[in-house]
Amino acid sequence: MNQTKTKIAGIGFYVPDKVVKNDDLKEVIETTDEWIQERTGIKERRYIERYKENTTTMAVNASKIALERASIAADDVDFIIFATLSPDYYFPGCGVLLQRELGIKNNCGALDIRNQCSAFIYAISIADQFIKTGMYKNILVVGSETHSAGLDFSNKGRNVSVIFGDGAGAVVLQPTTKENQGILSTHLHAEGLHAEKLAFLHLGAHSGVFTGDTSDFESSGEWGSLFVTKEMIENGTAFPYMDGPFVFKNAVFRFPQVIMEALNANNKNVSDINMLIPHQANLRIAQFIQEKMGLRDDQVYNNIQKYGNTTAASVPIALCEAWELGKIKEGDLVCLAAFGSGFTWGSALLQW
Ligand code: UT7
Repeated sequence: MNQTKTKIAGIGFYVPDKVVKNDDLKEVIETTDEWIQERTGIKERRYIERYKENTTTMAVNASKIALERASIAADDVDFIIFATLSPDYYFPGCGVLLQRELGIKNNCGALDIRNQCSAFIYAISIADQFIKTGMYKNILVVGSETHSAGLDFSNKGRNVSVIFGDGAGAVVLQPTTKENQGILSTHLHAEGLHAEKLAFLHLGAHSGVFTGDTSDFESSGEWGSLFVTKEMIENGTAFPYMDGPFVFKNAVFRFPQVIMEALNANNKNVSDINMLIPHQANLRIAQFIQEKMGLRDDQVYNNIQKYGNTTAASVPIALCEAWELGKIKEGDLVCLAAFGSGFTWGSALLQW
């Protein structure tokens, strides 16, 4: 009998209706459509309708599509893995909120993971282990992000705020013994040395004044603070920070490295890849990877132009859209790869 592997049995994504074009951002920050498109490839992104949608509601919408496509009921889900850096509550995580909203009974476990841009790769790697060992049969993995509620829409934060968008992607993972189907391997890495190069430090026990250099880091109070103060909002430290050029340089190095790691582990070549889905961080990064690895246009799918960077949601959204467009077919070799805050990065090689 063939070895048990993990297959994607159903996939779905959801993005909010509200389209925010580059020119719309000019109302709040000094920027131009030309700057954003030239540096990132982004033309527009989606934002939630405040107070009507959130990270959980988007996840519910994406999950319902994935469940339907997997032909299972919500109650068949025996484990949820929820990947987000923008949870609705500081705690509990969104996993239990998703379970509640889908009406799943308590025979299902729920795990939240916080691995930012590479979170979806981490999440399917965890799910893969549970499925291969026979512990679970139907795992719902979701990446969902609400960036629009937490960005710095002043000129100080413009390098970060123009990039990010809201959205959610979900997959149902199940065991398979079919030949030429399922996850072949996953590869995960971390380098905490650069944790503060792309970070949102607040709501953490070390909240304080952060200027981008760890040596300038001071605690805001004797006991630290779990809260964002008025001062932090005024001085702009209560928002995500990114050393863009530093992150860019690391990303273009790590992406090809971890993709090659996946190919080498499975005795495959770059030419064997039918579809590469890179995390949608910046179109220029994806183009750099494509050129460096000698991939043809039809071997790579990008949709950052429409949705911006949706961190944990970007890989499942792009994977789902590529599949819906008929660009991924049964048996195809698909490579997923991501790099981001942490730094953490990873890849997954699978046969569709
Ligand atoms: O998803 C996780 C992984 N993330 C990434 O991999 C992102 C990696 N980094 C990047 O994609 C790029 O660094 C950015 C797109 C974020 C920024 O592009 P950059 O070419 O690195 O720009 P920069 O931050 O070095 O800024 C260059 C100039 C600055 O002006 P001066 O000092 O040269 O006069 C900025 O003030 O561009 C200015 N600038 C802007 N101008 C117009 C920064 N943001 C904007 C903006 N509109 N939105």
